[in-house]
Amino acid sequence: MLCGVGNEATADEFIKFVTGKNKNAKIIIIDIGDEQIRAVRKLVGAKYSPLDIIVKKINALELDSFIKKHSIDWIETDGFLEYFDQRHLRLLFAQWKNVLAEGGVITFRDSFSKNKFDELIGSFRVWIAREWLGVTVFSHSKKFFENLIELSGFNYCAEPTLLPTFIRYTLIKT
Ligand SMILES: C[S@@+](CC[C@H](N)C(=O)[O-])C[C@H]1O[C@@H](n2cnc3c(N)ncnc32)[C@H](O)[C@@H]1O
Repeated sequence: MLCGVGNEATADEFIKFVTGKNKNAKIIIIDIGDEQIRAVRKLVGAKYSPLDIIVKKINALELDSFIKKHSIDWIETDGFLEYFDQRHLRLLFAQWKNVLAEGGVITFRDSFSKNKFDELIGSFRVWIAREWLGVTVFSHSKKFFENLIELSGFNYCAEPTLLPTFIRYTLIKT
């Protein structure tokens, strides 16, 4: 499942990658945005109509309303978690845990602060998103986030990326 697809180019990459590994894979792509879902449906209709792909406009906090418990092997997101405040991040992790199969994996990259300087960059990003893009995002500390991962029942590993505050995480449901 690709959670918070963003745009059709990301969907295209994801579908190519997954079907390159397993051409019979069942793929679910979700986003809360009308425009994003319209663009992805158009792509899937034009390029991937024989494949088993569900494209759904839904809030990720309601995944369990249409996905069977413990049925998903892999959840991928990118630049998605900053859309959730601390309370909603907890709810999102509970949803993910609920739909993920035993031993299932979650992968993503997102921005987290490790020190005061990163916090400053985070506040600046939040401000730019609000003032210039009209989008509300949240800045989270690595410490809070890793504590949440553990409390939510996942093992994880974290790797730095080329962007200083961006960290790549892989979580496994335990
Ligand atoms: C930054 S974009 C993702 C970018 C994408 N991964 C890429 O690489 O192009 C984040 C997406 O998450 C979606 N989103 C935000 N909150 C959401 C929610 N609660 N449920 C589902 N999608 C959500 C937004 O509509 C947006 O399309």
